[in-house]
Amino acid sequence: MVEFGKKIWKDGKVVGFDEGGHTSLLTHTLHYGVGAFEGIRAYKRADGATCVFRLTEHVDRLFDSCKLVMIEPRVTRAQVHEGCLDVLRQNELEEGYLRPITIMGEGAMGIHAPDNPIETYVIAWKWGAYLGKEGLEKGIRCKIASYARHHINVGFAKGKLTGQYINSVVAKHEAIASGYDEAILLDVNGYVSEGSGENIFIVKKGRITTPPLSSSILAGITRDTVMTLAREDGTPLQEERITRDELYLADEVFLTGTAAEVTPVREVDGRAVGTGQVGEVTRRLQERYFDVVRGSDTSHPEWLARV
Ligand SMILES: Cc1ncc(COP(=O)(O)O)c(C=O)c1O
Repeated sequence: MVEFGKKIWKDGKVVGFDEGGHTSLLTHTLHYGVGAFEGIRAYKRADGATCVFRLTEHVDRLFDSCKLVMIEPRVTRAQVHEGCLDVLRQNELEEGYLRPITIMGEGAMGIHAPDNPIETYVIAWKWGAYLGKEGLEKGIRCKIASYARHHINVGFAKGKLTGQYINSVVAKHEAIASGYDEAILLDVNGYVSEGSGENIFIVKKGRITTPPLSSSILAGITRDTVMTLAREDGTPLQEERITRDELYLADEVFLTGTAAEVTPVREVDGRAVGTGQVGEVTRRLQERYFDVVRGSDTSHPEWLARV
């Protein structure tokens, strides 16, 4: 069971979990899945300060997700930004995972319920390595899911929307039930899209490739971070569609996400990735990522929001 912070933020105020953390069975989002959320990490840095990583971008994506499904938070971006910092402070968390979520509350029970109240919350909890500490060090084993990512006119790939995660949940379940650690989903055209909660990168002969935004992927903030770091290093990088056989023949594969951070992949569908060991490009980017989020690298102060 996750250890939640005892205080949460609800529409502009910090309240106790028991006061504001329970929703009704009639909550519209519970029935139809129209809700937007974020996953954000705060790290304790080498200098002792706690900083939230790329908070502005996460809050912007929350509001973009809301726009896609036409729900309007009753709070501003600045309020959600401050709410995230406040929840960490009030729970005395030096490191933690933040989960802002905007939902449609109780009222009409039909599909069209434009007058139901829109509620925005921020919850916080402690969360270690999402795909395991060993996964970060040695790499994980992935399975290509039998489920495809949503077609661009079926869901909203650019939205982090609650209902859409059924697709991730069944794919992840299938991977675990088959003895793997994580699922990789293809798009409806058969090209590699992303993990159940991560973006994907491959490395071949020193060149990094990641699927373009049009491959039904979430525009990951960690993806953007890693692409920036790779460009700073002078590593050749392209956003191009990736086929299943390119994935099997890659020298290196890794996944990125706020929860998963930079996790190497050592096997896909029973085939070792490269030598089966974590590759040089992956290791270098993983180290740079942790230096930027938690370490002594201060080259991107614009990415850090001090608590
Ligand atoms: C489906 C999916 N793709 C990619 C990501 C990675 O996004 P980010 O790096 O912004 O956390 C996530 C996590 O939010 C996700 O759920």
